[in-house]
Amino acid sequence: MKRRNFLKSSVVALTLPTFSISAANPILKRTISSSGESIPCIGMGTWITFDVSTTQSNINYRTKILQHFFANGGSMIDSSPMYGTAQDILGKCLMQFDAPPSLFSTTKVWTPGEWLGIKQMEASKKLWGINKFDLMQIHNLLDWQTHIKTLYEWRDTGRIRYIGVTTSHGRRHEDLIKVMQSENIDFVQFTYNISHIEAEKILLPLAAEKGISVIVNRPFDGGNLFNKIEDKSLPEWAKELDCYNWAQYFLKYILSHPAVTVAIPATSQVEHMNENMGALKGELPSATMRNKMRSHFLALL
Ligand SMILES: NC(=O)c1ccc[n+]([C@@H]2O[C@H](COP(=O)([O-])OP(=O)(O)OC[C@H]3O[C@@H](n4cnc5c(N)ncnc54)[C@H](OP(=O)(O)O)[C@@H]3O)[C@@H](O)[C@H]2O)c1
Repeated sequence: MKRRNFLKSSVVALTLPTFSISAANPILKRTISSSGESIPCIGMGTWITFDVSTTQSNINYRTKILQHFFANGGSMIDSSPMYGTAQDILGKCLMQFDAPPSLFSTTKVWTPGEWLGIKQMEASKKLWGINKFDLMQIHNLLDWQTHIKTLYEWRDTGRIRYIGVTTSHGRRHEDLIKVMQSENIDFVQFTYNISHIEAEKILLPLAAEKGISVIVNRPFDGGNLFNKIEDKSLPEWAKELDCYNWAQYFLKYILSHPAVTVAIPATSQVEHMNENMGALKGELPSATMRNKMRSHFLALL
């Protein structure tokens, strides 16, 4: 039996949940500046949440998470060789789908050296079970001067569609700014959330000015935002913004910044995935409402 069929046959009850995405009930999308392609504004991260042992029950449950992601209109999935088993698990989950409807595959190169970088990117392709990545990023700018040359060549020859660089936790912003100013990249990824807004000063305006699309990592500050608000209730007025839980409140704060393209929350729970994807629907806060959202959040702490 082929590997794909074997794995597929061992997944319990692979029925796709249905959601109504239609012209009358659209999801929020933004345009990738360098191409004009549009992409749903909520993607999915895989750090920690997909870095689990490769047991069948882990694969089954994460496949279910992906089913809900795709059924809600999700597209961009972000991973990295840094995330332990995440790419392996992801590949085994993706095999369960006859045709992942809308996958925008995003990973990273995370090693010094040209030859090792190439080997690593090839290995990631095999783990995901795909022929080419949509987006390849240089993780935490590691040896970026070397990898950028490979990535330019791969983009020019169609081996990848887009290239980018990443940082997180507010680190190395000065280096990131230099790369954004001097290189011809499609995407930049950094941390931005209602609690950490440093990116509003330089990174977000610079991305908009240079036409670089922005991926926001750690949209929930790694889950700390939920710990901070504990069991406090959502304000009534949040419903006017179509926020029905704190996850949607935090995500809509991010998405309402005009320079943001995609936010990539990570979750290990189907219910949380559905909450997160709900941020793709309905109203987005105005500039005034964003200020109100942040003030309200800070007042609760
Ligand atoms: N340098 C880099 O390139 C870099 C660095 C950091 C992150 N990233 C990328 O960005 C992604 C996101 O960042 P992150 O994983 O650090 O943190 P995050 O997405 O800000 O937070 C993840 C945490 O939030 C919880 N969560 C998710 N949805 C929830 C909901 N609806 N309600 C309550 N809790 C919820 C998750 O717990 P549950 O599992 O219980 O839902 C998990 O503990 C990463 O997975 C990775 O792909 C990249």
